[in-house]
Amino acid sequence: MSRKLMIAGNWKLHLTVEEAVSLAGGIASGLAREDLDVLVIPGFLALEPVALSLSSSPVLVGGQNIFWEDQGAFTGEVSGPQLKAAGARYALVGHSERRQYFGETEKTCNLRLNAALRAGLRPILCVGETQSEREADQTEGVLESQLAGGLAGLQAGQMELVTIAYEPVWAIGTGLTATEEQAAQAHAYLRGWIEARFDKGVANSTRILYGGSVNPANAAGLLNQPEVDGALVGGASLKADSFLGIIQAA
Ligand code: 13P
Repeated sequence: MSRKLMIAGNWKLHLTVEEAVSLAGGIASGLAREDLDVLVIPGFLALEPVALSLSSSPVLVGGQNIFWEDQGAFTGEVSGPQLKAAGARYALVGHSERRQYFGETEKTCNLRLNAALRAGLRPILCVGETQSEREADQTEGVLESQLAGGLAGLQAGQMELVTIAYEPVWAIGTGLTATEEQAAQAHAYLRGWIEARFDKGVANSTRILYGGSVNPANAAGLLNQPEVDGALVGGASLKADSFLGIIQAA
């Protein structure tokens, strides 16, 4: 089964609303590819203005996080129905920065992923090992527990709506990129795990993105790996030129 490539830009805690709308405009006007999905993931405040500004463009919009309840007395949270109504189509779940700084657990990832599905959003579950876990040869064990926890209780029909992002923590924002072989190996492991947990059809149709210091110079090599179905880009997504350069390299 052929999987459509996705190039996603996670803007993290960067850009004012005005800057975000301007960047979205630069990406939309420079986009010369229709054969892949392009997703931008602004901060919450900029999400609706960015989505509105992209309404006549194929560029999709996603949320960086999602709370697991749909509404209620949860000060400071943002829900699935709110994201959907603001124009989001995707939501990141379990980004390593959420796991590292905000106490995200396998259980809360699973709750958030289910909240996204309930709201009609496509979750992107982020997984990846730290440097010390890799050095201790624990990479596959970490990926296994993050997949098992995040995807607990999911049916095959729901899994078809889920994207996985492999983001080795040691490669995020460090300028260190996984080698093509390291990415290929991790992606093959993730796809094999999905096949064992669901079936071959689900495994073959699940999109698995790579993230971690992707830039226009290294994108082609990573995206050429057969198990790598796109990129989740941080720093290099903050300038239209470099993000478009990654899209062109794909
Ligand atoms: P960098 O591309 O800045 O390493 O960030 C990757 C990332 O965390 C995307 O979600």
